Parts: sequence; structure tokens; C-alpha cells
Amino acid sequence: MVAVTKPMIEQAPSPMMTVPKIMARGVDMFYGSFQALHGVSLDIEANKVTAFIGPSGCGKSTFLRCLNRMNDLIDGARVQGRIEIEGTDIYASHVDPVALRKSVGMVFQKPNPFPMSIYDNVAYGPRLHGMKGKTELDALVELSLKQAALWDEVKDKLKQSGGALSGGQQQRLCIARTLAVGPEIILMDEPCSALDPIATAKIEELISELKQSYTIVIVTHNMQQAQRTSDKTAFFMLGRLVELSETSQLFTSPQMKETDDYISGRFG
Ligand SMILES: Nc1ncnc2c1ncn2[C@@H]1O[C@H](COP(=O)(O)OP(=O)(O)OP(=O)(O)O)[C@@H](O)[C@H]1O
Ligand SMILES: [Mg+2]
Repeated sequence: MVAVTKPMIEQAPSPMMTVPKIMARGVDMFYGSFQALHGVSLDIEANKVTAFIGPSGCGKSTFLRCLNRMNDLIDGARVQGRIEIEGTDIYASHVDPVALRKSVGMVFQKPNPFPMSIYDNVAYGPRLHGMKGKTELDALVELSLKQAALWDEVKDKLKQSGGALSGGQQQRLCIARTLAVGPEIILMDEPCSALDPIATAKIEELISELKQSYTIVIVTHNMQQAQRTSDKTAFFMLGRLVELSETSQLFTSPQMKETDDYISGRFG
């Protein structure tokens, strides 16, 4: 749950309806006078993997960053429209962006471990949020590294620098670091683009495991990866959402001509 007050009045969901984890309505996003997103509306389901695909510059990363208010950190960036997580407007004045980002974690394209030990990389967030006890921290570091499928490879060298790991291990360390603060949603922006095929396969396997407990949104340029890892795929073009469908449907019988052109390699 997002660490904010819930609205007083909530609509009871109909039993037939799945309540989306994330709901975006009419999202426009500007960098100064440049409009990067135009009226994006979509629902993201809980405990599913949703992939964002589309040509370079179409706004995938921009939209992803709207979901945990990372764009707040960019000078001149402005978001309009509504984004709710479990019914809470994440841009409402009472929402603390730091608490939001704890609940909506992010993994970046290039593995970016902090310049400190493997242990401290994972313990960093929990310590920042007030966890002090060694026993408690040890247990959380172990659990997070296990969840990120890295524990067996690093359990005997936790004091070694995170930067001394291979690229794929570093990315799993970054995932462990994200998991350690207890997110519900994990945003991944091309998490495998700097990795070799074996490290990529490990991350993809991990994504399938993590979706049992987390809601995952992954940006990828690799259409095979979208098909292997995701349940739903959203295709973006020129700052607009063109189509969001079941992944199997989007890649076999897309509803929109633009999607068809893109997935069959006619542009992008
Ligand atoms: N910090 C920024 N300041 C100004 N414009 C930006 C900024 N970041 C992105 N843009 C612009 O917004 C548009 C969308 O960019 P974005 O990075 O979201 O695209 P993308 O779909 O993630 O592309 P890629 O696949 O290459 O990563 C582009 O035209 C880009 O130049
Ligand atoms: Mg991008």
C-alpha cells in the first residue's frame, strides 16, 4: 500500500471487476514547453508484468517516471492529468514523494550499485528508513538477496564492493536494493540492455518469480523479451498510448495499424 491517507469515500468494486493497481487518466507531461506525453490513459493490473514498447523517444521512460514522481526531480518538468495507485492520487498535496518511491521502486538501464559493500548496498534503504538492529538488517539483507536470486553467489563476500560484481550480478544487486525497502510496484527501465544473454535470462526468470508478490512494469526495446516476460503490453508512439492488450494478442493480432507496423518491423 502507498503510505498515504486513503480518500474517505471509495467506490466498492464490483466482484466481476479487477481493480487496477495503477490507473492513469489523461496524463500530459511537459519538459518546459515541449509536450512529451499526450493524454495517456491506462490501467495496470496487480501481480502482473506490463511491458512498455515503442520507438525511441516515444515517452516510455517519461511515463514510467510519472508513476513514482521521478519527473519531479527534473527542472521544468510538469505533469497534468491523474495517476492513482490503489485509488490514491499520487500527485495530491498530502502525498510524500519519498514514501511513494519506497512503495514504487525503480531499476535502471545501467546497473548503478552505490560505491560501498554488497551488504551496505542492500542495507542502505532500510537504514535510511530507520532500521538499526544488526540481526534485523542481516535477515533483511539475506532475504532481499535471496529474492533477487543473488544470495548463493555473494553470501561469502558480503563485505566486498558491489562494483566488483559482474554486470548481471550488479543488476540483481540493484533489484535486491529495491526489494529491501518493501515496494509493491517495481518499475524497470530497460533493465537488461547492458547485459549479455545469460545475465538477461536470469533477470527474466527473476521477473517471472517476482510477479507473484509485486506488480512489475518493464520498458524494453526487445520484443522477444516483452513476449517472454509480460502479461500485458502497451505500445507507445509519439507520446501517445496506441494500444494496451494482452501480450499474446498484441503480438499476434494487434488492434491498431501502427502497432502492426511496429511489431512487424516496418518502422521504429
Ligand atoms: N530531461 C528531459 N528534458 C527534456 N526533454 C526530455 C527529457 N527527457 C526526455 N525528453 C524528451 O521527451 C521525449 C520522450 O523521451 P523518453 O526518454 O521518455 O523516450 P523513450 O521512449 O524512453 O526513448 P528510449 O527508447 O530512447 O529510451 C523525447 O522527445 C525526449 O527527447
Ligand atoms: Mg527510455
